[in-house]
Amino acid sequence: MSSVSAYYNGKTVLITGATGFMGKVLVEKLLRSSPEVKAVYILVRPKAGQSMQERVANMVKCKVFDRVREDCPHFHEKIKPINAELTQPKLAISAEDEEELLARVNVVFHCAATVRFDEPLKWLDESIIQDITPKLLGEWPNTYTYTKALSEYLIQQEKGNLNIAIIRPSIVGASWHEPFPGWIDNFNGTSGIFIAAGKGILRTVIANNEAVADMIPVDVAINLTLAAGWYTAVHRPKNLLVYNCTTGGINPFFWGEMGQYVMSTFKRNPLEQAFRTPNAHMTSSYLINQYWITVSHKAPAILYDLYMRLTGRKPRMMKIINRLHKSMTLLQYFSTQSWSWSSDNMNMLMTHLNTEDKKLYNFDVRQLHWSEYIESYCIGAKKYLLNEDMAGIPAAKQHLRKLRNIRYAFNTTLLVIIWRIFIARSQMARNIWYFVVSLCYKFLSYFRASSTLRH
Ligand SMILES: NC(=O)c1ccc[n+]([C@@H]2O[C@H](COP(=O)([O-])OP(=O)(O)OC[C@H]3O[C@@H](n4cnc5c(N)ncnc54)[C@H](OP(=O)(O)O)[C@@H]3O)[C@@H](O)[C@H]2O)c1
Repeated sequence: MSSVSAYYNGKTVLITGATGFMGKVLVEKLLRSSPEVKAVYILVRPKAGQSMQERVANMVKCKVFDRVREDCPHFHEKIKPINAELTQPKLAISAEDEEELLARVNVVFHCAATVRFDEPLKWLDESIIQDITPKLLGEWPNTYTYTKALSEYLIQQEKGNLNIAIIRPSIVGASWHEPFPGWIDNFNGTSGIFIAAGKGILRTVIANNEAVADMIPVDVAINLTLAAGWYTAVHRPKNLLVYNCTTGGINPFFWGEMGQYVMSTFKRNPLEQAFRTPNAHMTSSYLINQYWITVSHKAPAILYDLYMRLTGRKPRMMKIINRLHKSMTLLQYFSTQSWSWSSDNMNMLMTHLNTEDKKLYNFDVRQLHWSEYIESYCIGAKKYLLNEDMAGIPAAKQHLRKLRNIRYAFNTTLLVIIWRIFIARSQMARNIWYFVVSLCYKFLSYFRASSTLRH
């Protein structure tokens, strides 16, 4: 019997950020692995013209819940949405809801956050905050990491006698096994970059091939979170424990390898309607990167947008390229450096799990085979993010062949034009040209004569 699963059975759990990528995996795993969990309260805000109820009704229809739906068709009845906006005083939770939560909730998982690296700070007048942000950030690379550090500090200071643990995942990627291999539902972080590379839009990336790409599958992070929740509640460690949920120190994976695996997967399983054949390179040189940005990002985007304009359609490629450059600039800090994170608490937690826990809440990343994981991640992005059917792969390959022929024809035409211009201006180039042409002519005549003799 799994101790972790047994702990959550009969408990009432509150989750923030349940509509997000990790939150959904957490809700699903909790309901599936502890089917007797009493209730799962989730804090949800209305968004994009949808009420809280509409959002939750759409959320439970998501594919990520297919497995728990199979085991327990009425799983959604345990999900209790509460209207909340976390940036508002008292989280904008009504007095009745607050009373209900205080009376019932046993465990809280706080997952909500904005994952934009450059979200403006908001607690003062906008113009003042803009001026002082660089000073506040100091050594921190962005507002995301700065506010995370602030929150951790605040928790340390204010936790009182609550049993709290902090989980710090590195770059969270698609799921490794659960609920399905390769499951992913947003374009944040590496997912959007993989897709841009697979579509042939992204051709150059600033990264250090030898730097550690500290990626962690979402199901590993969630398994660790649930196990850490159990350990914190049952073993009540004296100090607040921080679990670095990372792979770099245990099973390191490098940016160079990542680039290779992504390219090779998309060559074998191309995305539909690619813009160009996938061919992204990593470089640690700013100048080389700028060169490729101009030649391989901006120039084709300008040509494509011109073509769109001429055919009466809305140009969009330059906009996509600008957005891509913005996220690449934010990622650069992480793709050019390595960090060492202690895995001590993760290893300690593992020693407290029984055999059943280790199977049900597996976070042993030594078993992770990176090339298989990245292949499943890219295929997951194709299936779950872009809704592309694997049956469309032959057509996608055909499209890539067409793009390759267009590229050959374009390059040949360009070469001939450049050569003609060169010939018109230089006697030496003309002489070389006549020499090559006469050589070809002689070779052809010789070939014809020798084949006539043989017959
Ligand atoms: N993804 C990663 O690579 C990664 C890595 C390390 C740590 N983390 C941390 O893991 C947690 C979950 O990340 P994620 O990738 O699942 O992010 P996500 O998909 O963007 O989800 C964020 C969640 O937070 C909610 N939220 C944000 N602001 C809110 C507000 N003001 N009021 C109420 N709800 C709010 C969102 O609700 P709406 O749906 O209403 O927007 C959403 O449910 C975050 O704390 C993140 O910092 C993520």
